[in-house]
Amino acid sequence: MKATQTLKERGPGHRREGAKSATPDDHVVVLFGATGDLARRKLLPGLHRLDRAGLMPRDYRIVGSAPSGAALTDEEFRAHAGDAVREFGSGDPAGREWEAFAARLSFGAADPEDPQPLLAAVGAAERAVGGSPRRLFHLAVPPSAFASVVGTLGRTGLGDGARVIIEKPFGTDLASARALNETVHAVFDESQVFRIDHFLGKESVDNILALRFANGLFEPVWNRDHISHVQIDVPETIGIEGRAGFFEETGTFRDMVVTHLFQVLGFVAMEPPVSLDAKALRDEKTKVFQAMKPLDPARVVRGQYEGYRAEPGVDPHSDTETFIALRAEIDNWRWAGVPFHLRSGKALGQRRQVVTLHFGQPPLSMFPDRPRTGRGNTLVVDFDDPGWIAACFLAKEPGPAMRLGPARMTFHYADSVEQRHGLEGYERLILDAMLGDQALFTRADGIERLWEISAPLLQAPGEVEPYAAGSWGPASAQQLIAPHHWYLPDMASGDQGSGTP
Ligand code: BG6
Repeated sequence: MKATQTLKERGPGHRREGAKSATPDDHVVVLFGATGDLARRKLLPGLHRLDRAGLMPRDYRIVGSAPSGAALTDEEFRAHAGDAVREFGSGDPAGREWEAFAARLSFGAADPEDPQPLLAAVGAAERAVGGSPRRLFHLAVPPSAFASVVGTLGRTGLGDGARVIIEKPFGTDLASARALNETVHAVFDESQVFRIDHFLGKESVDNILALRFANGLFEPVWNRDHISHVQIDVPETIGIEGRAGFFEETGTFRDMVVTHLFQVLGFVAMEPPVSLDAKALRDEKTKVFQAMKPLDPARVVRGQYEGYRAEPGVDPHSDTETFIALRAEIDNWRWAGVPFHLRSGKALGQRRQVVTLHFGQPPLSMFPDRPRTGRGNTLVVDFDDPGWIAACFLAKEPGPAMRLGPARMTFHYADSVEQRHGLEGYERLILDAMLGDQALFTRADGIERLWEISAPLLQAPGEVEPYAAGSWGPASAQQLIAPHHWYLPDMASGDQGSGTP
């Protein structure tokens, strides 16, 4: 049977090896921050889509929660969820299917000093499901509220035996991450904690593991003997989208690099795990983080787009970075001497999410017309949904002379496998959390190590350099990786990179 057929047949129900069941136990899912942006854009539409895909438990309820100042009635919460699904979901919220989903929704406000409405709503939801449903709490609240919500879960006993999904960023530095881990561990043990990074729920990021460890083709050259440098590049065209409060506290380094790009780096750089179960996978990822050298602020460029300081809610003297480019190094036998260049920023020229492995030159060149760009030898993983993978190489151009030109072989997720069943990052990860599979979630020791290697930069971040919106960031980001270039091949064309000035 062909590989594509197998993927098509397995659809979204396939689990990583070792997971026992694709159907979660009966659940009561509690969404803290149910009236917020993340719940509206991702979580409510995502839960609805899981329901439509037949991936939710046999029976379940969803309880929305927010402080009493933002409390909704059950009916208002259902209407709110309907609006969210209409705007960001996959189907019109109408008909019997929607009615059945909406009937599972209720609301319970919670303040630290008065959690009673939430306790009542969870109690009613559990009685409606019957038996002993599992509880899953999703903390879609600002980082400053994590500790207070966890405290409420501890004091009320709601957290007993439950699982908890915690949004990012998990801490703002090593001390705050340690303190937050202590607060969380006072109520939950690590097996109950799911620190979420939706990049790890992206199909094409998970596919890095398949590419590397399901094939004999790539892994033998996946090391310092063959790879000269690696780029993990996530430019975005959007600005801060009205999130001044969050962004001013966070900045691109914490928002994107510590949270997302380092996690992707973990998948790119890890040794083969002994299995794909949570412990094995997270042990290997953490080993990569342990081998990372502390960041050198001299090898970091922080930028801020012109006009950022005039955004509503932004300090007119803010030195928060909206752009970052840096060099990371992994001091182990596989990667010693291979720079990993990471870049992300808002208001840049293009939205992309790309890992590029640049291979070294052959030891001897017998081709006088060899292009000097060095771009011919790359493996590109574009992980923006639905994603694609390309091997870019040099080939002989037709004609009498031995002239070389760029060529590529590309695997397009969208045309190659059944997309109908594909899950968006959050959907995949909420399902994993209901199944108790922690493989794609961050572990306490891993996140603490990332803050540890970030300390030199956080202590001496240096100046932010201005850049024009729509550009590729400050010019010094190009110098940072010289003699290399930022390289963003597009999907359709030949081997033409963008992303350089
Ligand atoms: C979020 C960040 O975690 O990820 C945003 O807070 C960023 O700043 C977003 O824009 C990117 O995610 P996506 O879903 O566009 O890949």
